[in-house]
Amino acid sequence: DRAPIVAIDGPAGAGKSTVARQVARALGLLYLDTGAMYRAVTWLVLQSGLALDDEVGIAELVSRASIDLTPTEVWINEQNVTQAIRSIEVTSRVSAISAQRAVRRELVKQQQQWGNKGGIVAEGRDIGTHVFPNAELKIFLTASVQERARRRQQDFSVQGEQSVSLQQLERDISERDRADSNRSISPLRKAPDAIEIQSDRLSIAEVTERIVNLYQQKV
Ligand code: C5P
Repeated sequence: DRAPIVAIDGPAGAGKSTVARQVARALGLLYLDTGAMYRAVTWLVLQSGLALDDEVGIAELVSRASIDLTPTEVWINEQNVTQAIRSIEVTSRVSAISAQRAVRRELVKQQQQWGNKGGIVAEGRDIGTHVFPNAELKIFLTASVQERARRRQQDFSVQGEQSVSLQQLERDISERDRADSNRSISPLRKAPDAIEIQSDRLSIAEVTERIVNLYQQKV
């Protein structure tokens, strides 16, 4: 017997992290960002100098790594990587690392331990299909590639970062969608019992409110 679990899955840049955080706050649940774990491992692999296709070496590295998530920070092997895991370098490599069987096996195990008492909002690509298939509420959050690229560009400009063209962002997002949806192990899929929310014309607050309402109806 455990407390409820909310699973939020969807493609890159659909607003999952922001929404999941706000839903967790509104419902008094913990927030688990599983993408941050794949990003932290990717950062570690890049630091290690291992080849990205050295699955045996990477498996060994991951099995010895310790990942810590606090509400605001991400740590791996005692290093604070909160900022570093958002770099373009990590973002462009993470799909290749997250497709590897040993990496997924280890991180899914940690995610399931993290959530075994429930009371969490977990966000990623395979939460409703694989990590927590018994979640009480499953959301599949989408938006068009154009809208996701536009939001990314806005994020960059708010952060005062060098501007990247919309075309380039659309290409990067489409490429990550393609890789995450076509890998052989736990590809990005809408679970049959997930509720899809298409967010092109919805604000963060509106998406959050819908999910909170669904939770209150169902749980
Ligand atoms: O959500 P975020 O963009 O931070 O995720 C980064 C990458 O981590 C995704 O593109 C995907 O390759 C991988 N990922 C995954 N399974 C999850 C969460 C993220 O494969 N549950």
